[in-house]
Amino acid sequence: MLPEPSQLALQYYPQPILRIKAQPIEAVDDRVRELAGRMIELMVEHEGVGLAAQQVGLTVRMFVADVPEDPEAPPPPAPAMGSEPVLTSTTGPEVYINPVIEFVDRQVTPFNEGCLSLPDIRGDVLRPETVRITALDRDGNTFTRVGAGLLARCWQHENDHLDGVLIIDKMNPGDLRSNKRKLAAMER
Ligand code: NI
Repeated sequence: MLPEPSQLALQYYPQPILRIKAQPIEAVDDRVRELAGRMIELMVEHEGVGLAAQQVGLTVRMFVADVPEDPEAPPPPAPAMGSEPVLTSTTGPEVYINPVIEFVDRQVTPFNEGCLSLPDIRGDVLRPETVRITALDRDGNTFTRVGAGLLARCWQHENDHLDGVLIIDKMNPGDLRSNKRKLAAMER
């Protein structure tokens, strides 16, 4: 049973729901669309580039993202002849339902990540630079995209949330140590 959109609220570490593995959405209906709309509102309100279901109290496989173009980022790798274009931003807020991520290449890069559910916690996380995502949109249609840079990072970060995985699980050990006191305070 899915809750009313008005019941959604941002969940902070160490809320147990952040550690739950979310279940696939069986039908993309009006309630799912309303919840996605509310998630986009909450993402904008909290100035995030992505927000996953568990972060608003849901346990379904859905996240939203709105990743702006970064003018300082290096250009994405050019697609080989005949292959898919590589995106680095969204064209506005997007909904990803039942997403599946595949790695396109083996190159991994560190990037300083934060998370709306872990305020003031930041640290380097290693992730593949370019990934392919396949998901359903808010109309229930399947789409596939290849992303790099911040977009690929956002997809992977939000997809991790759907499996109950947080940045503190993947963070560079030195960065994790320097966040230890703040995390302990949140756990109290
Ligand atoms: Ni997060």
